[in-house]
Amino acid sequence: MTSNRNGSAAKHWTTFRGARALKSSHPDVRRLKRQSEDPSLHGNKVWHSSFALIDYLHRHPLPRGARVIDVGCGWGLTGIWLAKTFGARVLSVERRSRGRALPAAAGALNSVEVEFMAGRFEQLNARVLGGVELLIGTDICFWTRW
Ligand SMILES: C[S@@+](CC[C@H](N)C(=O)[O-])C[C@H]1O[C@@H](n2cnc3c(N)ncnc32)[C@H](O)[C@@H]1O
Repeated sequence: MTSNRNGSAAKHWTTFRGARALKSSHPDVRRLKRQSEDPSLHGNKVWHSSFALIDYLHRHPLPRGARVIDVGCGWGLTGIWLAKTFGARVLSVERRSRGRALPAAAGALNSVEVEFMAGRFEQLNARVLGGVELLIGTDICFWTRW
């Protein structure tokens, strides 16, 4: 849910290829970071590889309404950009049980909704993957502790 306490101010986001990415100053980001189980890892940023992938997908567009899974979504910006730009039907997957709030806040800022599933990449089965045209993930394999 997006906060109303000055969260609508443009200074709290940056725009990339038409999608708004929340900045760490946004009230929702600050609140969710405080609540996160491991905020130091990813609570306050969209990783730059998301912008690189958005750039790639801008040059290689998807068919309208394509089904997409964004695994290890974090704030889910790439999936949100796909939903906004191509009307993609996006399932954002995140191992963190409380991860749902992140793409929900980012989606609200962009006036789109993405579905969310709490779970690990390794758990995606044929039922979830069936009919999916694109499986994306950015910066999810950087730490062996998981
Ligand atoms: C560095 S963040 C990147 C977030 C986002 N993809 C981005 O580019 O902004 C890595 C994310 O991947 C998630 N993650 C790591 N391993 C995962 C796995 N096996 N299955 C699902 N999510 C995973 C983490 O919880 C974290 O939110």
